[in-house]
Amino acid sequence: MAQNLSRKILAAHLAKPSDMVPGEEIYLKVDQTLTHDINAVMTYLAFEHIGLDRTQVETSVSYLDHNLLYLDHKTPDDHIYLQSVAKKYGVYVSRPGNGICHAVQVARFGAPGKLSMGGDSHTPHGGSVGMMCIGVGGMDIATAMTGVPMRLKMPEIIKVNLIGKLRPGCNAKEVILEMLRRNTVKGGLGKIYEYVGPGAAALEVSDRVTITNMGAEMGATTSIFPADDMVRRFMKAQGREDEFTELGPDEGCAYDGEIEIDLSRLEPLIACPHQPDNVTTIRQVEKKKVQQVLIGGCTNGSYKDIARAAMVLNGRHVHEDVSCTCAISSKQIYKQLLRDGYIEMLIDAGVRLLELACGPCCAIGQSPATEGVAVRTTNRNFKGRAGNPTAHVYLVSPESAAASAVTATFSTAEEIMGEDVAKLGEITEPDVYPVDDSQLIRPLPLEEAKKVEIVRGPNIAPLPVPDVPEQHLECKVSLKTADNITTDDITPASAEFSSMRSNIPLMSRYCYHRYDPSFAARAKELGRSIIIGGDNYGQGSSREHAAINPMYLGVKAVIAKSMARIHKGNLVNHGIIPMIFEDPADYDRIYQMDDLEIENLRDQIGKRKVVVRDNTRGFSFETKLELSDSELEVILCGGQLRYLKHELEQMGVIK
Ligand code: F3S
Repeated sequence: MAQNLSRKILAAHLAKPSDMVPGEEIYLKVDQTLTHDINAVMTYLAFEHIGLDRTQVETSVSYLDHNLLYLDHKTPDDHIYLQSVAKKYGVYVSRPGNGICHAVQVARFGAPGKLSMGGDSHTPHGGSVGMMCIGVGGMDIATAMTGVPMRLKMPEIIKVNLIGKLRPGCNAKEVILEMLRRNTVKGGLGKIYEYVGPGAAALEVSDRVTITNMGAEMGATTSIFPADDMVRRFMKAQGREDEFTELGPDEGCAYDGEIEIDLSRLEPLIACPHQPDNVTTIRQVEKKKVQQVLIGGCTNGSYKDIARAAMVLNGRHVHEDVSCTCAISSKQIYKQLLRDGYIEMLIDAGVRLLELACGPCCAIGQSPATEGVAVRTTNRNFKGRAGNPTAHVYLVSPESAAASAVTATFSTAEEIMGEDVAKLGEITEPDVYPVDDSQLIRPLPLEEAKKVEIVRGPNIAPLPVPDVPEQHLECKVSLKTADNITTDDITPASAEFSSMRSNIPLMSRYCYHRYDPSFAARAKELGRSIIIGGDNYGQGSSREHAAINPMYLGVKAVIAKSMARIHKGNLVNHGIIPMIFEDPADYDRIYQMDDLEIENLRDQIGKRKVVVRDNTRGFSFETKLELSDSELEVILCGGQLRYLKHELEQMGVIK
């Protein structure tokens, strides 16, 4: 039977037979795992706790790429720990300076048909080369490293038929912003977007990464392109053509839905504060004075992106009122840009080059000014994510960002280049990238690895383990939130906060710090509590600290109107019960500090229906648990770590 590409790859990785019916749970064998420094310490602490002597997947890579500002001892402590623990367990390390995880992973490890799990929501970046790449929480990565199959609700596969050709001055960013405009930040839940058609075939890998990477903003499980001639060319340029396999959908295959986008009709778009789906055209957006521009990041930090931005800036200068920085996504891209003269163009235009790292994207440096308007080529514009809740962040392509840096207001490349904008269309990916893997540390042979001592500085605190849920729960509502709460709201980003992520007792003090600074102290004082959430609770970054910190503060359940996929998984892994209002109208009847009571909780969990009584208001309401059988077991066990140890003991893998 004719199959689409996504089903082919999933079928090839099934660990248990399945008809792969959308919504049903499937189990998948994982080929690759990816972690990065600001999420990974918890992952490797969990892996240590399990007691295996080596990662059980083909390739595990640990990236030191997000927080390279060593403000004090904490981040270097983390990096030394991560490098030593990787050596011990057969994990590659990509050292600081090699580049941003997704860019390096696709270039040096990406291969068609593989299945990769990453402890970062933008892991789908690798879908650009015909891989199935799924973002998950850190505990899921620790689980995959034990060789236990990944559980996933079988997604619907949506065909995105691209026709036509992007006009010069337009970027693949326009495609993904158009997808967000149509589908919203939660329209991709439970879906894989499979990009096909003549428009897709004409996009190079560096265009495709922008689309697959930022598909995460729709809440999609992942996004993927066929492994075709463009992928072959990219892998050849990486010196890895021998790892290429052609892979695409069969002629006449079926999909669960279809979207069509005519690329030639797209014009430069802009996502306005504070959600990436708040999209309009640059032509129509209200013009504002721009204070800051950031070009680069994992979404738009490719060779082509930076070269095009440099061309827009060539012979022009960044406006004197604008601070313009550039974060190129990898060392090899930087070297090629240097060789081709683009770095000089950027420097001459007054652009400040940053480290080859995530940096400002997750508030590690370069926060906008008070009430500052920032234009960024990154993927998220949530309130406060850039490090300043008063700032207004707009998302655009590198071409538009460069133009905006010159004019100090929202502008397109065409507006300032006129007919010369056609020259941007002539820039293509290099035929050969200057490959240099000297910043990649390869895994040691097992016997040597066993002798490695793990270095644990004072910032590495023990991993907290949740309690097993009791039959009777009586507690207060410690927080009632609005819709679209992000994991940035729950666990703020910044160099300072990121450096606390390996120390939960310290970091938990800042839980919900920017949203409600009194939450952490209140929750701690209550001892046990429940959070009430609105729609799309926990969207955004895969950061599992958004589950670990509330768990540490005694949060036993989150009751929301709806929940983002990765965050729901993280809550389960860390023993917080994710409940969904059966009737969303009940949300309006509950208030912060209400007394809630649940009887026979464990029995009710097993039935996926939990009745909660609000003793303050005197009414009861129903909730449902949209969880698979194994997720229910994890919750009843008291989290994934307890569950996994039990499973591995049963299997005789550990004693
Ligand atoms: Fe880094 Fe931002 Fe991408 S934090 S991985 S550049 S989304």
